[in-house]
Amino acid sequence: MNAHAPAADSKTHPHPPQSSSARGPDWWLMMKKFWSKGRSIASFAPSSRFMARSVVGGIDFDSARCIVELGAGTGPITAELVRRLRPQTKLLVIELDPDLCARLRARFPQVDVVQGDACQFDKLLADRGHAQVDHVCSGLPLPSFPAPLRDAILATSARMLAPGGTFRQLTVMPLIYYRMYRSYFEDVRFRFVPLNMPPGGVYVCRGYREPAAV
Ligand SMILES: C[S@@+](CC[C@H](N)C(=O)[O-])C[C@H]1O[C@@H](n2cnc3c(N)ncnc32)[C@H](O)[C@@H]1O
Repeated sequence: MNAHAPAADSKTHPHPPQSSSARGPDWWLMMKKFWSKGRSIASFAPSSRFMARSVVGGIDFDSARCIVELGAGTGPITAELVRRLRPQTKLLVIELDPDLCARLRARFPQVDVVQGDACQFDKLLADRGHAQVDHVCSGLPLPSFPAPLRDAILATSARMLAPGGTFRQLTVMPLIYYRMYRSYFEDVRFRFVPLNMPPGGVYVCRGYREPAAV
């Protein structure tokens, strides 16, 4: 299902009821989630539009057949993807938190939003008939994940990437984790994004390599 077709859930629940904790503007919802969940949310504010543009910058939307977003939050990156998406491109959005999923579904009823764990994204894609992904856009707080989980997500992303595909990871700690991503990918470029709260950036990674054995 692409971003221009109705999501399966939206057929049965076009406007699913929101829990009281899912009300209010995006920044308020993110702040409440950060306060209650801390490390698994990792950011107290949604990404800025400058960050969103930087995450998707350079994607060839004419040739992309499948794009996955991991850890979408309230959807600032989703909005930029939806704005540029072509009708033939599948967009799958995965978010763990149920209230944030409710927000995403209300905001993007045409998008396939799945409440689930990002490390399952290969199975979710296979269920939808996709064996490869052109671009993975991740807002996940990967550095705070346990190493085996981080390995699984990066290895799955790399294994599923089509030739020329990219893994894009946003961060609010500019360059600190450059070496970590370099240990997984042959080519890692960092784009600094000062106009974000807090200032951050994007790692654009290509060419997976197995992490060296310790
Ligand atoms: C830093 S926020 C990024 C939100 C959004 N992409 C943005 O730019 O504002 C990280 C998001 O990852 C989600 N998340 C954390 N662990 C996850 C997992 N294992 N699977 C899917 N989403 C996860 C959190 O619920 C949170 O919404």
